[in-house]
Amino acid sequence: MAEFTLPKNSKIMPGKKVDAAEKGAKRKKTFKIYRYDPDTGENPKLDEFTIDLDNCGPMILDAIIHIKNDVDSTLAFRRSCREGICGSCAMNIDGRNRLACLEPIAGHSGDIKITPLPHMPVVKDLVPDLTHVYAQYNSIEPWLKTDTQAPSRERLQSPEDANKLNGDDGRGPSACILCFCCSTSCPSYWWNAEKFLGPAILLNAWRWIADSRDEAAGERLDQLEDPFKLYRCHTIMNCTESCPKGLNPAKAIAEIKKLMVERKA
Ligand code: SF4
Ligand code: SF4
Ligand code: FES
Repeated sequence: MAEFTLPKNSKIMPGKKVDAAEKGAKRKKTFKIYRYDPDTGENPKLDEFTIDLDNCGPMILDAIIHIKNDVDSTLAFRRSCREGICGSCAMNIDGRNRLACLEPIAGHSGDIKITPLPHMPVVKDLVPDLTHVYAQYNSIEPWLKTDTQAPSRERLQSPEDANKLNGDDGRGPSACILCFCCSTSCPSYWWNAEKFLGPAILLNAWRWIADSRDEAAGERLDQLEDPFKLYRCHTIMNCTESCPKGLNPAKAIAEIKKLMVERKA
């Protein structure tokens, strides 16, 4: 029987334990945070930081910022907007891909374990390397493509057509913030990330195919007609379950597959 083991240098080792809460602190909480620095050549570690929640805001990102500012300035992570708009603070929190700025600490009992988005190369600590996934994004040409003469003012769209992008509830494909929580929770993407585009990119491909102003839908579908790019999706639905914005990449993928069938009929 085949036996699979992790390479030695990818095993996560125990890290340091830092109790940064003042004596007598009433709201102590421990965060176990993945640490990896490629420059040291050492294995990744899980550091434990105990802090007083009275010293930070209510969200997981607030705790991480407090740890970086006041406990260990070498901790690396991405964040920008702090309100679920930029998508940069995506990470795995207690086993689920989440935006740290939208995730309340109060929703987690016990110690909280934080690791980078799964199955991505790691630049440092909680920072995944997004080079490949952005190259895949570029491959779908995520911009309006037209052949016809541009009108004197903007290209108009009916409210119904705009709704296909925005969704009745604001959760249409144009609301995607490219956080990649979905792609990094998709087993098919874990195993075939080189060739399968994954749910985030396919949802964005659908966003342009469904745009009534775009004139390259046929060409876009031709690009996706491939055994790997689109058809490695096996409708496992992890993507939709993990989207912190409540979008439905699995449905977007199903819509593309439906168009593929219809145009062959
Ligand atoms: S439906 Fe499943 S296989 Fe398809 S993209 Fe989503 S998680 Fe991946
Ligand atoms: S579909 Fe949702 S989870 Fe996926 S990249 Fe867009 S916002 Fe993030
Ligand atoms: S910091 Fe922008 S989405 Fe969390």
